[in-house]
Amino acid sequence: MLISKEPAFKPVIIEVDIERPEIDKIRIAADVIRNGGLVAFPTETVYGLGANALNPKAVARIFRAKNRPVDNPIIVHVADKEEVYKLAEDVPVIAEDLMDFFWSGPLTIILKKSEIVPYVTTGGLDTVAIRMPDHGVSLALITESGVPIAAPSANTAGKPSPTNAKHIIKDLGAKVDIILDGGSTRVGVESTVLDLTASPPKILRPGGTTSEELMEFLGTVDVAGVKTEQEMRMEVALSPGMKHKHYAPNSDMIVVEGDDFDMVVQKVQELAYDHRKEGKKVGIMATSESPAYDADIVKVAGSRADLRTIAKNLFKILRGFDDQGVDIILVEGVETKGIGLAIMDRLERAAGHRIIRV
Ligand code: TXA
Ligand code: MG
Repeated sequence: MLISKEPAFKPVIIEVDIERPEIDKIRIAADVIRNGGLVAFPTETVYGLGANALNPKAVARIFRAKNRPVDNPIIVHVADKEEVYKLAEDVPVIAEDLMDFFWSGPLTIILKKSEIVPYVTTGGLDTVAIRMPDHGVSLALITESGVPIAAPSANTAGKPSPTNAKHIIKDLGAKVDIILDGGSTRVGVESTVLDLTASPPKILRPGGTTSEELMEFLGTVDVAGVKTEQEMRMEVALSPGMKHKHYAPNSDMIVVEGDDFDMVVQKVQELAYDHRKEGKKVGIMATSESPAYDADIVKVAGSRADLRTIAKNLFKILRGFDDQGVDIILVEGVETKGIGLAIMDRLERAAGHRIIRV
């Protein structure tokens, strides 16, 4: 007889009202967090896979569930700025100013960690990443749990981040105890990670808070952490075996970028024909400004006139192509302004840096 290691009824999926999260539902999830379990929950960016950030055993479960390398640190989520003073050794004025201005919202700050934060959570580092999500369900869950919540994106390591509950079930299934289902997330790409132990502050990952906004607020920001396309290619060339896969769909993927949109479109169509000639099933991620492409599947991500619409749908579309079994995904690049920087970062990594510039 086959005995399943996990009870068949997991995960419990609880639909929550994102405007007025039902307190009885939040309490069920908060109990799970307090007891060392895993709760997937919506934030304004993507869904997180949460555990008590101060409980090393609970955080270790996150790493196992995601198959995440243990040296990849996890963001600690708070519902109150006061918590930062407990989690961080030293909170500079610049951190206070940033928290006052950008929180709650998609900005993660990195500070020196205090003793109460376990090394499991920080991947062995002496720093801790902290953010306050702009989402009623996240905030209610953290408050009811009474502990800070460590939460990476709720996907299997290497896959696109989840922007709805279905994505989590597909990746993690019974590895998570409860999913709080709050529908599709609003921003669609993860928070911006800003290292405040560096001077000037350094963006380690572009995200929902734009580098322009940070630049305007801070005067100077080091964007060196945001690798250019060429640097990423060199990194791969220098250490091919070390390449971490990120945001990657199962299908191959090519990003076409260039300043002249007509040329981008022409190249995408040409690549589509080439691959179909080889008998491949071709998917194109287009925008509302694109012409009608000739391909097996065309998905419109959003409008080039408002890149936030593209960010919101990006991961869902990549996952959708996988579900439909395409062999190759062709994507029109966008300009790296505003949230476009985060979009291109995710696209280039998802494509394993297969980028064609026209
Ligand atoms: O929007 C988000 O940030 C989402 C939601 C769930 O809050 N979370 C998220 O977590 O994207 P994750 O684990 O998928 O990405 C966190 C990133 C990783 O690149 C990690 O290496 C970096 O933040 N990070 C975390 N702590 C760090 C630290 N102490 N120093 C440097 N990087 C850190
Ligand atoms: Mg992630």
